[in-house]
Amino acid sequence: MADMPTDFWSGWIVGLAIVGFAGLVMLIFGIYFGKQPHEEAAEAPVWDSDLSEGNNPAPLWWFWLILALMVFCVMYLMLYPGLGSYAGALHWSQQSQYEQHHAEFATVHDPARHALAETPYATLAQDTVAMSSAARLFADNCAACHGADAKGQHNLFPNLRDSDWLWGSTPEQITQTITAGRNAVMIPWLSVLGEEKVKQVASYVRALGTPQADDLPGHAVFMQFCIACHGADGSGNQLLGAPRLNDNIWLYGGSQADVELSIAKGRTGQMPSFAGRLDATDIRLLVAWLTR
Ligand code: HEC
Ligand code: HEC
Repeated sequence: MADMPTDFWSGWIVGLAIVGFAGLVMLIFGIYFGKQPHEEAAEAPVWDSDLSEGNNPAPLWWFWLILALMVFCVMYLMLYPGLGSYAGALHWSQQSQYEQHHAEFATVHDPARHALAETPYATLAQDTVAMSSAARLFADNCAACHGADAKGQHNLFPNLRDSDWLWGSTPEQITQTITAGRNAVMIPWLSVLGEEKVKQVASYVRALGTPQADDLPGHAVFMQFCIACHGADGSGNQLLGAPRLNDNIWLYGGSQADVELSIAKGRTGQMPSFAGRLDATDIRLLVAWLTR
């Protein structure tokens, strides 16, 4: 470990500790059993007939207390790390204790976690204990963005409780979304189309699904620039995370102004990857919870 003292510094620290300790032992024994000062100066001045200057040691029980503490120190330093880089006879370390707890946790919980990994989603969704773990996982990892009830936040994070999925609703697709994250990219269209056409195509997008939509001037713009991702009928493309535009569900708002803004400025929603923070069992629980 880089922050451990090298042998020299370790030796230095051991030396200081031992010399310091020996000094303390000598001091304590000197006070209690050495030559007492009043023996040296037997003729100490006395005032007011019985007041004399003294230098008496503290009561003897202090000595036993200090001795017990010193014995404790020596035993502690022999058993546990404390003297330079000497690991102690018990070889205790934070790291080894952490690993031991981890191993104990694994032996207790691994069988249950393996069983969960084999359980079908539908069964998991009925299991109240598993679902309360999933809800906790969601609260810890996801609620900050998607909201405590998973219903998203207007203009920022998608609702995960509706039937409209940007990246697909199968367990495999949702697993992929959570594991690897998703980056949605729609470029800004203002410089390509100009303001007028942005307005037209926004009106067209809002009218999608109604019979009069195709008569709008935005129809031609949509056919030229947008269908590659959103599809000719506006039903979207889950491989690209391109949302369905012909329903009335909007990630970034459905008013004329909101839709114009989405088109003019583009949108780049990012769902972070959780591969490093959640394991496969956690993600399986979350998928069961989201699709239940
Ligand atoms: C930093 C904010 C953030 C956090 C934390 C976050 N997400 Fe997301 N998530 C997003 C964004 C933004 C999107 C939309 C991406 C896009 O625009 O396509 C998204 C999309 C999703 C989708 C896809 C929705 C769809 O319609 O296809 C799922 C599923 C999802 N998140 C689940 C989760 C889960 C489960 C967690 C917790 C483990 C989580 N998210 C944590 C921001 C977040
Ligand atoms: C390269 C593929 C691509 C093209 C081309 C594209 N889009 Fe998009 N569009 C997306 C993606 C991906 C999103 C989702 C962005 C996000 O989740 O942050 C999106 C989002 C949107 C939204 C927001 C939807 C909502 O629910 O709030 C609108 C509106 C939209 N696009 C309209 C258009 C129009 C109009 C055009 C043509 C001028 C167009 N898009 C061209 C990929 C594309």
